Amino acid sequence: MFFERPEYGELAVLVHIDFAQDAQREDPREFEELVLSAGGDPVAYVLGQRKLPTPRFFVGTGKLEEIRQAVQLHGAEVVIFNHQLSPSQERNIEAELQCRVLDRTGLILDIFAQRARTHEGKLQVELAQLQHMSTRLIRGWTHLERQKGGIGLRGPGETQLESDRRLLRERIKYINGRLAKVQKQRHQGRRARSRADIPTVSLVGYTNAGKSTLFNAMTNAEIYAADQLFATLDPTMRRIELQGVGATVLADTVGFIRHLPHRLVTAFKATLEEAASAELLLHVVDAASEERLANIEQVENVLVEIEADSLPRLEIYNKIDLMPGMEPRIDRDAAGVPERVWLSAQTGAGLDLLPLALSELLSVDLLHQTISLAPEYARLRAKLHESSAVLTEVYTDDGSIDIEVRMPRFELLKMLSVEGIEPASLGVTMPREEWEVDEKGL
Ligand code: GTP
Repeated sequence: MFFERPEYGELAVLVHIDFAQDAQREDPREFEELVLSAGGDPVAYVLGQRKLPTPRFFVGTGKLEEIRQAVQLHGAEVVIFNHQLSPSQERNIEAELQCRVLDRTGLILDIFAQRARTHEGKLQVELAQLQHMSTRLIRGWTHLERQKGGIGLRGPGETQLESDRRLLRERIKYINGRLAKVQKQRHQGRRARSRADIPTVSLVGYTNAGKSTLFNAMTNAEIYAADQLFATLDPTMRRIELQGVGATVLADTVGFIRHLPHRLVTAFKATLEEAASAELLLHVVDAASEERLANIEQVENVLVEIEADSLPRLEIYNKIDLMPGMEPRIDRDAAGVPERVWLSAQTGAGLDLLPLALSELLSVDLLHQTISLAPEYARLRAKLHESSAVLTEVYTDDGSIDIEVRMPRFELLKMLSVEGIEPASLGVTMPREEWEVDEKGL
């Protein structure tokens, strides 16, 4: 296989410095993939080691010279640092090299901007960009601010700064307003879904694990899947039918990466919020990656941050076609509950196991049946309505009501026991005591 490169990418010099006491070291290989993802064409990689960044140029003057030579040699259009630069460092380096400079946050924002598809995603990206810009604008112009009030010094520079700031503030306020509205609509959509009791399954995972590919394979939907990081930015939802469960919403989410700048995490919270409200998380893992364990850990950390770590989870070990001798299978825990499915979203091997595992996991708690309620069970009927469990109701000739319910089995059993009604009298069965373990799946 060849390494995909954009044909007409922006020529970029990459800079990565290892700091002596830096526990949070960024991965230089991942950095290169991020640049490719942004449509950059890395022409040179300047590596270095330092104890601490320098205040003025972030790197030492020797290293700066090395970068300058790389820029000149390759005719590079941009220099990208795998680090957070202060606004003044960014400006100083730009002035010194006469070349555009981008830091890690700017790079990630650029990728987000290119990938945002939904209205909400686009608004979030613009907001994050404006906020990034406004810190730069304010700090970048502080030398002018000092002139404020000086007679004869109120020049156009200051006026420009003031109006730039005002425009930014207004735009941020406008976007926040739009976002609040869009989010409200999304919450209403989610409420409508939960009223109909349609379970949501969210795909989460480290970037490039194969979420979009799996999502497509499961839904036959043509959403964007490419060998680029962040091919998915917004939760993309599709309805699928699962045997024994019925309609289920499948939601794709943005990929997680290490050291996402905090400001961006906040900006993209909505995409993760969707995952936090799911009934089940499908954690997609690139099983063939050397970084497999570190990536799993990273995703787990993020799940804790968004308070989604207590949700039931099924791990999808994807890309087994890259692992010689690996056959599709379902791993189960001691109780027989599926906990991991090994498959290849690309070749389709093992894809048939996934609906089985999902149906098992989701239908454990979910009951969907029509029960016949005699008139004296009016209180139970009211409770069923209260919990939004009723899908249809048909009055029969003998005065009873056929009610189609869809709800967690344990919830109905609880209601029945409070009312002193024998489940069997309504045709409601108890949960399965033992798991019917599919021998082939083991
Ligand atoms: P983000 O949106 O960045 O989070 O990525 P993602 O997790 O949605 O990954 P995506 O589906 O875009 O897949 C990333 C790359 O892995 C693409 O080049 C896919 O073709 C490739 N890929 C996905 N599944 C498989 C697989 O089962 N086997 C192999 N060999 N490649 C796969």
